[in-house]
Amino acid sequence: MDNAFEPAGHLDLASEYFRDQGLAELVVSSQASGANGYSVAIEPDIDDLVRLHQLVRERRAFTVLEFGCGFSTLVIADALAKNADEFASSDAEVELLPADAFRVFTVDASEAWLETAIGRIPNGLQTHVVPTHSPVRAGTHNGQLCHFYERLPNMVPDFIYLDGPDPQDVGGAVNGLDFSHRERTVMSGDLLLMEPSFVPGLMALIDGRTNNARFLANNFRRSYDWLEDPGGDYTMFELAEPPLGMKNRERLAYCAGEDE
Ligand SMILES: C[S@@+](CC[C@H](N)C(=O)[O-])C[C@H]1O[C@@H](n2cnc3c(N)ncnc32)[C@H](O)[C@@H]1O
Repeated sequence: MDNAFEPAGHLDLASEYFRDQGLAELVVSSQASGANGYSVAIEPDIDDLVRLHQLVRERRAFTVLEFGCGFSTLVIADALAKNADEFASSDAEVELLPADAFRVFTVDASEAWLETAIGRIPNGLQTHVVPTHSPVRAGTHNGQLCHFYERLPNMVPDFIYLDGPDPQDVGGAVNGLDFSHRERTVMSGDLLLMEPSFVPGLMALIDGRTNNARFLANNFRRSYDWLEDPGGDYTMFELAEPPLGMKNRERLAYCAGEDE
């Protein structure tokens, strides 16, 4: 696996970007709406949200899978709505669009937080968000301790954002080992289950969770460019394989901005 990305300077002028893209207004008004009565324990992280929005926009992502809902769900929905407008005003053929284009599928173990996150989405963005509630249970991948969501949305993403679950939401144990121990790091194995059907160009952004990201790097079977950025506390993977065929090639060309 190559470590080919350069840290991208995505966070330069983060606050300015957050304001200029209307994200500050979106996030502030969603907090003011009372978020369905649940208290907001973690404040929005502007740098993380800006990085996420910029990546979904720059890569012209079509279909996002998010593990761990929150303000990020709102920000991804906004980026996808902008990608949809950009696609509509481009010369690209409608046939290029994948199933589930311009949707974020967000999976969460907490019904309460899912309700809060969905409650924040303004009417104009709701068609862009598909929630899935699922328990998460400890399990194994090739004999190694990790955990899996029990229900995943049946879709194929071109962008994955891994920022959940909360370790306290992981149920079950393997031979006495569980994720309620405060020294045990989260260890999602879901991307390994999905890996065979990833398509070239897929990007996975992992927020923090460095031990989980290294577990994925050590267990992925395919070829990725990847970057671990300790300063920004994130890891990115991009499936670096030749296109599968005409459709995949055309989508990759559009996403690379080759129609401009
Ligand atoms: C790291 S948080 C996910 C944060 C989200 N991706 C974001 O950027 O806003 C992990 C889990 O905490 C719960 N959660 C979501 N928003 C939260 C908040 N504001 N405070 C505390 N927990 C939250 C959800 O169950 C989520 O799966």
